[in-house]
Amino acid sequence: MAKMWAGLTSGETSKIADDFNSSISFDARMYEQDIKGSMAHAAMLAAREIISREDADQIISGLEGILTDLREGTLPVDPEAEDIHMFVEQVLTERIGDAGKKLHTARSRNDQVALDLRMYLRDETDRILPKIRKLGRSICTLASSHMETILPGYTHLQRAQPVTFAHHLLAYAMMLTRDLDRLQDCRRRMNLSPIGSCALAGTTYDTDRRMEAGALGFDGITLNSMDGVSDRDFCVELMSALSILMMHLSRFSEEIILWSSWEFRFIELSPDYTTGSSIMPQKKNSDMAELVRGKTGRVYGDLMALLTTLKGLPLAYNKDMQEDKEAVFDAVDTVKMCLDVFDGMVSTMNVRADHMKEAAGKGFINATDLADYLVRKGLPFRDAYKISGRIVRDCMEQNLVLETFPLDSYRSYSDLFEQDIYEAVDLKNCVEKRISEGGPSKASAEQQLSYASRFFTE
Ligand code: ARG
Repeated sequence: MAKMWAGLTSGETSKIADDFNSSISFDARMYEQDIKGSMAHAAMLAAREIISREDADQIISGLEGILTDLREGTLPVDPEAEDIHMFVEQVLTERIGDAGKKLHTARSRNDQVALDLRMYLRDETDRILPKIRKLGRSICTLASSHMETILPGYTHLQRAQPVTFAHHLLAYAMMLTRDLDRLQDCRRRMNLSPIGSCALAGTTYDTDRRMEAGALGFDGITLNSMDGVSDRDFCVELMSALSILMMHLSRFSEEIILWSSWEFRFIELSPDYTTGSSIMPQKKNSDMAELVRGKTGRVYGDLMALLTTLKGLPLAYNKDMQEDKEAVFDAVDTVKMCLDVFDGMVSTMNVRADHMKEAAGKGFINATDLADYLVRKGLPFRDAYKISGRIVRDCMEQNLVLETFPLDSYRSYSDLFEQDIYEAVDLKNCVEKRISEGGPSKASAEQQLSYASRFFTE
């Protein structure tokens, strides 16, 4: 295809340079945004009498035709084109003639690509948000049926204190509420139109940038033309928010992998979300969770790639910036896939409350409650802690647990022990008595559920 920028030079470049330079293979996905942006541009040019109404009408209906044909697949994207912007303009000019050549008045590909990318990522953000909400709702639903399912809470992956499965799940729900918030915040900053910044220094035409921005659903315009064409913060910010979201999914994945191992057996993943081994007939592998954990590295990589690309760039546009798209598209595609599969996996998994209870019964996760019992009876915490440690050691030696340690034996450590010690170390009570706000008691879990659910309603 002859270059539209032929003029100073013949526009003849070597094939190898063309292939190297072209971005059509990955930016063609922005055709909707590119065409809608051009329609708004033509309408603005006519409104400001920069081009005639007839030319604008011809351009707009030509663009409508191209949009329909691209959607229906009847217009193949030319792989030889330099990028989607050049392709659309070229086809338009072929179809409507001279009027098509007027579309690029008072704009540049620099502000055009910045516009397209903001519109595209705004649309993608609007697809990601409901997926997070859906996953959030699935987590809340699961939590609401496990308000009394006790399992050990861990620190250092050692059994620590009793919590409910609802409480554990709601920790993830809270992370997702912040992920939603971050993405919405990022969308707000993204939703400013750079079009009209032109190549870098605005234009001598009396354009109306706000009209164009308004027609395209933006909340306002970028206020510095050099910033407008060279800023890619919105991509970096989006990928940062997505990286944090993936970090959360990855931690959850790690737990799902552990929980479905024979060592834990806290959950069983649905056969729909596990794979077998080609050699070991007994295997049921949690590949989906492992892949989500693995793909987290990939999304971080996308973020680091763009940050590194941008760090040395002088203002304003540089071709290095064409590298933004593959990274941010990959991050967005990966996150959408991960959210879908994660939601399916979480909402179909089978929870083994019996195994959780069994694990909670071992490991002395009520030892803190034993110490707290003595504190309530008047002993300073440090003394109570020491006595409790000795009792735990004694139990271990005799193969007993705090619930089965005889009262006489308790009393040999302190006169403060009475029959009510057994209520104090009962796991159910241990959870329910954790009444501090944000703790694992049922009342607190209900409060958490209603807070998170508000975020997750569409
Ligand atoms: N394909 C280019 C990109 O993605 C579009 C902008 C080209 N601008 C230019 N001055 N060569 O960044």
